[in-house]
Amino acid sequence: MAANTQVLLDHRPTAKVSAANFRVVETPVPALGAGQVLVRHAFLSLDPYMRGRLSDANSYAKPQEVGAVMQGGAVGIVEASNSPRFRVGDAVVGMGGWQRYYVTDGRDLQVVDARAIPIQAYLGPIGMPGVTAWYGLNQIIAPKSGETVLVSAATGAVGSVVGQLARRAGARAIGVAGGPEKCSYAVAELGYSACVDHRSPTFAAEIKAALPNGVDGLFENVGGEPFQQALRRLNDFARVAICGLIASYEGAATALPDMRLVLVKRIKVEGFIVSDHMALWPKALGELAGLVAAGRLQWRETIRDGLENAPQALVDLLRGGNFGKMLVRI
Ligand SMILES: NC(=O)c1ccc[n+]([C@@H]2O[C@H](COP(=O)([O-])OP(=O)(O)OC[C@H]3O[C@@H](n4cnc5c(N)ncnc54)[C@H](OP(=O)(O)O)[C@@H]3O)[C@@H](O)[C@H]2O)c1
Repeated sequence: MAANTQVLLDHRPTAKVSAANFRVVETPVPALGAGQVLVRHAFLSLDPYMRGRLSDANSYAKPQEVGAVMQGGAVGIVEASNSPRFRVGDAVVGMGGWQRYYVTDGRDLQVVDARAIPIQAYLGPIGMPGVTAWYGLNQIIAPKSGETVLVSAATGAVGSVVGQLARRAGARAIGVAGGPEKCSYAVAELGYSACVDHRSPTFAAEIKAALPNGVDGLFENVGGEPFQQALRRLNDFARVAICGLIASYEGAATALPDMRLVLVKRIKVEGFIVSDHMALWPKALGELAGLVAAGRLQWRETIRDGLENAPQALVDLLRGGNFGKMLVRI
């Protein structure tokens, strides 16, 4: 059996995370015990929440352990199985983390159909990011036909799905994204009616012009100044889904919405964590998989090759260096 390559958290970042916070090691793959499964990973999912787990501050999830394999979603192929639930050759999605081989009792693994859909889609539009988009849009914003839904990080793993689902619900989807290339893609491929570049020096004027009817639903992925601008454009009875605040994950302060605005406009602001809503995942995944299989949901990926490049891929994701779902191919 080949050696396992693993990426461990070496020490916690005290300011911005860098690749030096991690360490790559080679270890033997343990022999399979009764009921265990050996998975060879094909793709790792890189996700903004990972930055929070690198810190030991109190949060909704347990911190990543120092000296342990970096946790995270991954897809791969079963190479050996002592479990009746899995056969050699099965495509699976699970939480195997940043390593080439994963030995597990299979409790976290799901068999997926990777014949017609690329296996890594189970880390994107038909995985956790897709369900996040589905939940925040349908359960919090609940757009009505003709309403305007504003989405930040509009071309990212979550945002790209939100925009397309909002449009399918008959709403007018407006995106905010970083740079002209992302904005062109948002309109041409994802069906946003308009997309505003938050790096533009005239962003404030441009977002105002893109929202002649204001905002009925705000799907917030970023925070920061664009969020403040978006809040000013909210209509009476607007719904704000606080999905993520990536602009502050490395220490920048978050700003509260003006509470007077929340009151006088009777706005609903709701934060959510997708893993609190596991009962809805099968429904969401069923709908998303149907759309993907029918070619009605587009997505895009940024793929970095090599497990040893996972730390830098995370750093780049946290600086907005991805275009679509950030993945590492092993
Ligand atoms: N609540 C939940 O359960 C849940 C689940 C999954 C994800 N999330 C959150 O959803 C958001 C999107 O996640 P994702 O996986 O889909 O990531 P993503 O959107 O694919 O990637 C992050 C994007 O954020 C944008 N961004 C804007 N300002 C930024 C800044 N100051 N620093 C870094 N990035 C900035 C960048 O896009 P532009 O260049 O277009 O600005 C970047 O590409 C994140 O906040 C994440 O934490 C929440």
